Amino acid sequence: MPANQPPTAPAVTRLPSYTKTDQDEILGPGDDPFGVAGTGLTWLPKEDHFGVRLDGRLVAHAGLLRLPVAIGDVETEVMGVGGVAVAPDVRGRGLARLVLAAALDHARTQGPAHALLFCRSPLVPLYQRLGWHPLDTDVLVEQPGSAPVTMPLCTMVTPLHETAPRISGRVRLYSLPM
Ligand SMILES: CC(C)(COP(=O)(O)OP(=O)(O)OC[C@H]1O[C@@H](n2cnc3c(N)ncnc32)[C@H](O)[C@@H]1OP(=O)(O)O)[C@@H](O)C(=O)NCCC(=O)NCCS
Repeated sequence: MPANQPPTAPAVTRLPSYTKTDQDEILGPGDDPFGVAGTGLTWLPKEDHFGVRLDGRLVAHAGLLRLPVAIGDVETEVMGVGGVAVAPDVRGRGLARLVLAAALDHARTQGPAHALLFCRSPLVPLYQRLGWHPLDTDVLVEQPGSAPVTMPLCTMVTPLHETAPRISGRVRLYSLPM
C-alpha cells in the first residue's frame, strides 16, 4: 500500500452464532470481562451477532435482540444492544465504532424506534461519542424469581429513525436485560 494511503476499515460480518468460546477469543477467559458481575444480574443472550476478524481472529463483537418494553404508558419494542467487546490489544482503533455501526444499520431495518444498551458509568462518554445519550429515567428489568428490579447500570439510548420520539417516562423491559 502506498505510504500516504489511509488503511481501509476491516469488514464487519454477521456471525452465524456467538459462543462463550468466541467471547473468550475476544476478551480472554476472565470471570467478569464486562465488569458487571457485581450487579448480580442475569442477562439474556443476544440473537444477532456482528463481528470483526483480523487475520482470521475474532477481535470485535456487538449483539442485538428485539425486546418488548413499556415507555411510560406505551407498550412497544426496542432493539437491545449488548456484548460489545473489542480485544484488548486492538482497542482504540475504532473497532467498537465499526461493529456498533453495523449492528445499528441492521437494527434500523427491524422496526423499533430506539436502541438501548446498559453500561458502566466510565463508558458513558465513549458511547456519547458514538451518538448515544444517557437516559435519566429509571429502567426496570426482569430478574429470575423476583419482582422487576431497577437497572443499576447506566442506560444509553440512540434513535434508529429520524421520527423517533424522545424517551420520557419510566422504561420497563418485559425481559431480562441484554
Ligand atoms: C468498550 C470497548 C468495546 C471500546 O472498544 P474500542 O475499540 O477501544 O472503541 P473505539 O476505538 O471504537 O472507540 C469508540 C470511540 O470512543 C472514543 N473514546 C474512547 N474512550 C473514550 C473516553 N474515555 N471518553 C470519550 N470518548 C472515548 C474513541 O475516541 C472513539 O471515538 P472516535 O472514533 O471519534 O475517535 C472496549 O474497551 C472493550 O471491549 N471493553 C471491555 C468490554 C466492555 O466493557 N464492553 C462494553 C460493554 S457495555
